[in-house]
Amino acid sequence: MKAIVVTDQAAGAAGMKLMERTEPQAAINDVVVQVHASGFVNTEAEWPSTWTDRLDRDRTPAILGHELAGVVTAIGYGTTGFSIGQRVVGLADWYRDGTLAEYTAIEARNLAPLPNDVDFTVGASLPISGLTAWQGLFVHGRLQAGQRVIAHGAAGAVGSMVAQLAREFGAYVIGTGRAADRQAALDFGAHEFVDLGNESLEDIGSVDLVFDVIGGDVGKRSARLLRSGGTLVSVIGPYEDLPDGCRVIDFVVEADRAQLSEIVERVRDGRLRTNIGDVSNLDNAIATFNSTERRKGKTVIRIR
Ligand SMILES: NC(=O)c1ccc[n+]([C@@H]2O[C@H](COP(=O)([O-])OP(=O)(O)OC[C@H]3O[C@@H](n4cnc5c(N)ncnc54)[C@H](OP(=O)(O)O)[C@@H]3O)[C@@H](O)[C@H]2O)c1
Repeated sequence: MKAIVVTDQAAGAAGMKLMERTEPQAAINDVVVQVHASGFVNTEAEWPSTWTDRLDRDRTPAILGHELAGVVTAIGYGTTGFSIGQRVVGLADWYRDGTLAEYTAIEARNLAPLPNDVDFTVGASLPISGLTAWQGLFVHGRLQAGQRVIAHGAAGAVGSMVAQLAREFGAYVIGTGRAADRQAALDFGAHEFVDLGNESLEDIGSVDLVFDVIGGDVGKRSARLLRSGGTLVSVIGPYEDLPDGCRVIDFVVEADRAQLSEIVERVRDGRLRTNIGDVSNLDNAIATFNSTERRKGKTVIRIR
């Protein structure tokens, strides 16, 4: 099968290659999925799990990609809940060969059913950005209706989901980003927008929750706006020199079937709009990843 592979950590993302690899087998509790579309996060080459297994041993050549939409083609011993031919969507293990391939083996618990009326490209755009937003707002951030939330990078893949879900839940949403992102962030549900390059974040007053996808000084300045008892939820920490008493949750998104099904259902009934940027195919994927053009939204690779 064809797959996008990295072989050399020193080369990082520049070392990606389209290669022939052996089709995977389904282990206990796995299914094999014929991947129709895969999402991609451009920082993957920086993640330790791209290069090593859980015991820190070199696992290259490694197949990239962790988000998939596709069809089940094989079922491992003891696996329940899915059938051959079923459409699925999911978030693959960080430490296993991934989804930028014609087939991938994945634990069934990492998957949710994908309804027939949700396109594979749309499905593949959802797992990381949707689950990250859901877990940050509702699990780690314990969002309450009526609270004020900063959604950093609100025109980006994660931030656009944060803005929409927080607004649906009854929060007041302050989106941030670059000047050019204002309208997109407002369209994704932000009540107001702060252009971080030209406007003062400090002018927005106090907030209950900060959802940070930018980090550094932006994260630190946002933390100072938190009300007593407020939370900084981050996927980009850790931070130095945060204000005293600030509750900080720096987390890595996890697969969760029930949450992913909630997200898919919202996309299906129009409550949630996915934010797809570049769409490419396996042959052109590496050129897409290496493009110097500014990305807008989630990159999706159509495999079939
Ligand atoms: N820990 C986890 O589980 C987890 C999960 C998902 C994502 N992440 C991480 O979260 C980050 C965001 O992911 P994403 O997929 O949402 O990326 P994305 O689609 O590129 O969105 C980020 C948005 O923030 C904007 N932005 C970044 N720095 C900015 C700044 N200094 N001022 C104003 N706007 C700025 C970006 O604009 P530009 O494109 O112009 O910079 C972009 O619109 C990535 O680093 C990713 O690796 C972590």
